[in-house]
Amino acid sequence: MFRRLRNVPRAAVTIELDGAALTAREGESVAAALLAAGVGHTRTTPVGGGARLPYCMMGVCFDCLVEIDGVPNRQACLVQVRDGMKIRRQIGVRAVTE
Ligand code: FES
Repeated sequence: MFRRLRNVPRAAVTIELDGAALTAREGESVAAALLAAGVGHTRTTPVGGGARLPYCMMGVCFDCLVEIDGVPNRQACLVQVRDGMKIRRQIGVRAVTE
């Protein structure tokens, strides 16, 4: 459903989602990279366990929450990919961190 623009040359970077390597493009958000890779969901809701994907892509809906490099509750739409970045799906409730 989501495809990158073909005429925008950018260097490829490698990120990980739950231990699996994905190719992303320098400068794109984590959310855009995950949608372009066709991942099924990026988190589940704390109460009902419903699957969620990034929705608004502008920091409003919080459906894109993931763990990035060990830090939970990061909004994937507001973070740019970086080579070697380790992302984990956020399943259910996460502890509040400082
Ligand atoms: S996609 Fe809505 S806050 Fe990130």
